Amino acid sequence: MIISLTVDEGKVIRVSGPASIEVLSGEVLVAGAVFQPSSKLVISRYRSYGVKALKRSELKVVLGDGGSLDEPQQGEEVMDSWIKLCEELINLRTDLRIIIIGPPEAGKTSLTAFIANQLLQRGREVYIVDADIGQEDIAIPCTIGVAKPKDKFIWLRELQPLMMKFVGCNSPQYCLAQFITAFQEVINDVCRPGVDLIVNTDGWVTGYNALELKQLMIRMLRPTHVLILDEELFNYFRNSFKGYGFEVLLIPRPKFIKERSREDRRYLRHHSYLKLFSNVRRVELDINKLVLINSLVLTGKELSIDELSNYVKIPDNLRSGVIYASVLANTVNIVLRKGLRLSNEEVVCGEGLELNIVNEGDEKGLLVGVLDRNLRTVSVGIVERVDYLNKRIYVLTPWGDEILGLIIGRIKLNERYEEVGRVVKCIL
Ligand SMILES: Nc1ncnc2c1ncn2[C@@H]1O[C@H](COP(=O)(O)OP(=O)(O)OP(=O)(O)O)[C@@H](O)[C@H]1O
Ligand SMILES: [Mg+2]
Repeated sequence: MIISLTVDEGKVIRVSGPASIEVLSGEVLVAGAVFQPSSKLVISRYRSYGVKALKRSELKVVLGDGGSLDEPQQGEEVMDSWIKLCEELINLRTDLRIIIIGPPEAGKTSLTAFIANQLLQRGREVYIVDADIGQEDIAIPCTIGVAKPKDKFIWLRELQPLMMKFVGCNSPQYCLAQFITAFQEVINDVCRPGVDLIVNTDGWVTGYNALELKQLMIRMLRPTHVLILDEELFNYFRNSFKGYGFEVLLIPRPKFIKERSREDRRYLRHHSYLKLFSNVRRVELDINKLVLINSLVLTGKELSIDELSNYVKIPDNLRSGVIYASVLANTVNIVLRKGLRLSNEEVVCGEGLELNIVNEGDEKGLLVGVLDRNLRTVSVGIVERVDYLNKRIYVLTPWGDEILGLIIGRIKLNERYEEVGRVVKCIL
């Protein structure tokens, strides 16, 4: 459907994707960015936006299947208060350190883009840290992505990642230590005088652990502003950081928005993987010369089949099916040839021992972080295969430089780059 309309100066309309907007005359503000005549913007089916006419504007809006256009009622739209916030932030100081906190679908990502565009427009140097490892828009899920936008944009997904810090799973609650380490690395790398920094966070805010993590992030960042899109959370954070010299502000959230279903979110994650991994190289890494973090199987003491029998008793007919074994603390790891099955009951086990039985090939699709010479996470990869005999690991990665090590993640992808679930046992 094609709609031609004129929006009076100061008025806001709400457009839900899929849609495109062409500015024929006047000037509009979308996601904090100014669009003038002859600009055309495309709104994804997963997003909705307030569009404010800064001057009386003629627009041509094309709505795709499921797209919509309406006029917000009084009090539904938040753009004016977001504009006011940005004016205050911008006039106040440089070297802003902003962290945005709120529940799912509160507008965190939108507010991040809004402030970034407003700062860019004033010629400021802006870094965006997308610390929402579940719905990561700048890099891929399971990582913290950093971008330094050069031009205006309406969705973080338009930006190129400048940095990608591997965490290893798509919700911080399952990998707190890795998340904190990655976040600290980002801060060390990007916080410097002359730049403004905006941190977008995930929507995990219920429960003590979730709040504790956000507090930790605040302590690590030492922000100038904590922006909160929820009243209860606002009270909590204001009370927790009383007396410390930064502003905790309650920011209004848009009332009517395009919500994403679980499937939509899954699809968006899949799409991010697809985009990054469509241009990869295959690297062969020597396990004997490789730093391996979060690995149990490959970092344990390797056991020959005879040594293995000192720990566990394998049925005779399956002995030749064991292609690798190791022991680490009280865990005996056994890698079996593809297709073979061995239950814990079949293996007579020494007292106090735990068994970790995996099959050759289980490692295929495991997401890994790439470490450089300084043990810093610089990129990501997907494990293709481990050759236990020749101690080689084959990884698909967009990283073109030296690889000193890998961090083993907890998410596996299938061949179509879709997540196939969280890995609970140690495969590598
Ligand atoms: N001013 C607005 N008017 C209409 N829709 C909006 C507005 N601001 C944001 N939205 C839409 O609201 C939805 C949620 O916003 P956003 O993705 O920014 O929230 P979020 O808190 O980052 O969510 P998540 O927790 O899923 O990451 C999106 O579809 C976004 O396009
Ligand atoms: Mg978000």
